[in-house]
Amino acid sequence: MDIQVVDTPRGRPRGDAVVLVAAQGESLRTRAGSCGRAFREGYMTLERAKGFAGEAGQVRTLTLGGSERIGSVILVGLGKADIITHESLRHAASAGVRAARELGARQVSLVPPEGKGAMFRADRLAEALVEGTVIGLYRFETYKKKAAEDGVDLLNVLVSPAEAKAARRGAKEGRVLGEAVCFARQLGNEPGNTATPTFLAEEALRIAQEEGLEYRVLEEDEMRELGMGSLLGVAQGSVEPAKLIMLTYEPKLRGKKKPETVAIVGKGLTFDTGGISIKPGNKMEDMKFDMCGGAAVLGAMKAVAGLKVGVRVVALVPASENMPDGASYKPGDILRAMNGTTIEIRNTDAEGRLILADALAYATSKLRPKPKAIVDLATLTGACVVALGDGNGALVSNTDSLADELLAASGTSGDALWRMPISDNYRAQLESPYADVSNLGSPGAGTLTAAAFLEKFTGNVPWAHLDIAGMAWTQKRTGLFSVGATGFGVRVIARWLQSRG
Ligand code: BES
Ligand code: ZN
Ligand code: ZN
Repeated sequence: MDIQVVDTPRGRPRGDAVVLVAAQGESLRTRAGSCGRAFREGYMTLERAKGFAGEAGQVRTLTLGGSERIGSVILVGLGKADIITHESLRHAASAGVRAARELGARQVSLVPPEGKGAMFRADRLAEALVEGTVIGLYRFETYKKKAAEDGVDLLNVLVSPAEAKAARRGAKEGRVLGEAVCFARQLGNEPGNTATPTFLAEEALRIAQEEGLEYRVLEEDEMRELGMGSLLGVAQGSVEPAKLIMLTYEPKLRGKKKPETVAIVGKGLTFDTGGISIKPGNKMEDMKFDMCGGAAVLGAMKAVAGLKVGVRVVALVPASENMPDGASYKPGDILRAMNGTTIEIRNTDAEGRLILADALAYATSKLRPKPKAIVDLATLTGACVVALGDGNGALVSNTDSLADELLAASGTSGDALWRMPISDNYRAQLESPYADVSNLGSPGAGTLTAAAFLEKFTGNVPWAHLDIAGMAWTQKRTGLFSVGATGFGVRVIARWLQSRG
């Protein structure tokens, strides 16, 4: 889809449909008038009949006669002007443009709302509306014999000439973020028989080439040399070779200032059967989404390059399958991670923390310069879905300043996070009589014992962990998202990195 900011004076819409986003109580009459005579009349009728009041989520369609410049006008409500947020703008744009697509429109004009206050700045409006549109229009149809025939080819964002510059900047950001999210969703939705560790590495290479990133992948023999027994232990029951995928983004900074380095790590478990501690069959197919942390990290790298953030970012995605097999690791086995820590396996289904352990140890001990912060994202625990459902991702961190930065970035990003504690109570639950640590805590607070496990591999680097198990995919269409992977994490990470430089 092409996206253009058009600065002809407002009210010169083009295309098959116009989506007009309006707050409650906003007078549409003035600026809507020139959408066409029929529209004006139609709007008056709607207004008289109280058919459209600008309530949040309200969508009203007006189909015009053939003599008009545009086929249909779609009014989308935002709710009260004083409580408009990035998220309500995203929702409105997504609902409006999706309605236009359903009507068969290929070229759509989007008219931002008018009002006073910080949310009505042209850059913020364009950013949120474009991001919402891009995310809202995505659908996964790679494996359908017949792809949908409808589709929006061109989005015009209509602004006044005075707003054009800011709106273009905002639209560009919205597009970068939206497309990075959809990239992560596409990876997440790919089935396990396509999205293998090798496939993820190929996709990472593709991003590296497109965005000018440095690409490196550690193969199993190199992992063996480095002593990554934890990641290799998980992978040994699978015929798919494990990979440790790495991408580096170097900012181009003016002057001599050296940028700081930060690392992001994503769980790339391309299918989680549970291994020998096998999962029940019901909904096991959803475990193709167990690489969504890795997908979010790769999506975030696309966003980081598109936004040209000012920090050096190293992305690491440990990728493996978790399969039952004669060669699989077993409960009772003891694995040795790269940092020398021995791990007693008490459940082979707690594998995410094992593949992350070696990636975290690598990031904190081998990267030069040493990262100033490290954030990992993982569909790590079912317990997180119990605790927070699909309303928030869990944030666990041993560094308050880093947690605060992430919460601040989360606020407007669309990726909601809720902080949960880490303390000695949870750390103590990982004691093992046979090894340095067990991969399983006591029953209860599974998200926090999992986090406490990861912490043991982060050295002294400020670290935060995002458990995205409840957020990474959706079973039903919700808000912006169609069924399947959501790309959760891409935006909060991109915004956080933007905030650091
Ligand atoms: N990938 C799962 C976690 C998961 C479950 C994510 C459901 C999303 C939805 C993870 O590898 C796992 O199986 N965790 C176990 C840990 C347990 C054995 C300590 C779990 O949550 O049951
Ligand atoms: Zn598992
Ligand atoms: Zn898993």
